Amino acid sequence: MSIGEFLENFIRKESLFKNKTVLQSAYFPDEVLHREEQINQLAKILAPSLRSERPSNIFVYGKTGTGKTLTVQYTLKELMKIAQRENIPLKYVYINCKLKKIADTEYRLIAEISRHLGKSIPPTGLPTDEVYNIFYKAINQERKIIIIVLDEIDQLVKKIGDELIYNLTRINTELKESQVSIIGISNDVMFADDLDPRVKSSLSEEEIIFPSYNALQIQDILKKRCSEAVKDGVIEEGVIAKCAAYAAREHGDARRALELIRVAVEIAERKGLSKITLKEIDESEEKIEKDRVIDIITTQPKQFQLVLYSILLLAGRKKANEPIFTGDIYALYKDLCLKTNMRPLTQRRVSDVISEFDLLGIINARVISKGRYGRTREVNIITNESLNQKIISILETALSL
Ligand SMILES: Nc1ncnc2c1ncn2[C@@H]1O[C@H](COP(=O)(O)OP(=O)(O)O)[C@@H](O)[C@H]1O
Ligand SMILES: [Mg+2]
Repeated sequence: MSIGEFLENFIRKESLFKNKTVLQSAYFPDEVLHREEQINQLAKILAPSLRSERPSNIFVYGKTGTGKTLTVQYTLKELMKIAQRENIPLKYVYINCKLKKIADTEYRLIAEISRHLGKSIPPTGLPTDEVYNIFYKAINQERKIIIIVLDEIDQLVKKIGDELIYNLTRINTELKESQVSIIGISNDVMFADDLDPRVKSSLSEEEIIFPSYNALQIQDILKKRCSEAVKDGVIEEGVIAKCAAYAAREHGDARRALELIRVAVEIAERKGLSKITLKEIDESEEKIEKDRVIDIITTQPKQFQLVLYSILLLAGRKKANEPIFTGDIYALYKDLCLKTNMRPLTQRRVSDVISEFDLLGIINARVISKGRYGRTREVNIITNESLNQKIISILETALSL
């Protein structure tokens, strides 16, 4: 088929989507399923703000795709509807700390919050004291209860430490006209354990946990979204269940489930199909996983890339499922360092790099005991053969091998 024919066919064929944006991550659904309990908890804690009493700070946590961002925003919007109707002095500011240039420094974050309160602070240049002064003034002038949501607060602390959170939770002693409450949201369930105990106790005056969804809950979420996003009859029997099963395999991640379906419909469209079947879901899963892995690999430091390259080379020389040991990886890695003029990391450090790749889900590394010879790691590849080849060639280019 010529490109002209393909494009002609494409515009003549009806889209399988009714409204594709409904499956994109920025879409705000009008109903939040299976989160009644969390919504109730949030509402109970935040309700005093409608009587101009400062609500407790809240720490919200759970794995990615468990509906934290959605549920918190949904509840705050409901709260604001009433506040606006009744003329209650209440406001909320939502900040996603993962976004670049917003929360990479204390200065930037305070400037960003101030901007939401209508006070602009130049992007650089002012002394920190001055920035805080403008910020306090902005808050006081509101004469309101102000709820500041710091989403992905774990990323913030990773970048700039926890002192800022400490300052924010202490801010009310400096304020006369307004009161501030903080809602911190974290995808990292262990995050709070690493905080300074004082910071932890003031941030988590209340805690709300978001458990992972089970496969049936994910199915409900998918069905609802698909009924708005995709034309009737496009989704074949069993497709939603399979998607949900994939998404629930590691932990119930609604974001991943929605992405799986969206990419599957795109694949079906590209093939000129009028339906998506289980096959497109498999292909979608493969494509998403491939993109994810390639994304991670290309952004790793060179030393890390070389460790992974060594693992993949060794895997290629072994029979399937035959494990690779840290010692072998290190020997090959050191060889390759010599060839590429890189200074080798210590074996201990390489061992850490290996466990990081394990955490990222690129390989499987299991610590095994070798009796009195100590411990080693047994590494297995989890990506498939064709992806391995692709990764190897990406790494060869990146490392000029
Ligand atoms: N209970 C739910 N009902 C409807 N959609 C949901 C639900 N939970 C999550 N989603 C959707 O799944 C995606 C991920 O949710 P999000 O709130 O961003 O998760 P988190 O912040 O926990 O990582 C979003 O597109 C969201 O709209
Ligand atoms: Mg989120």
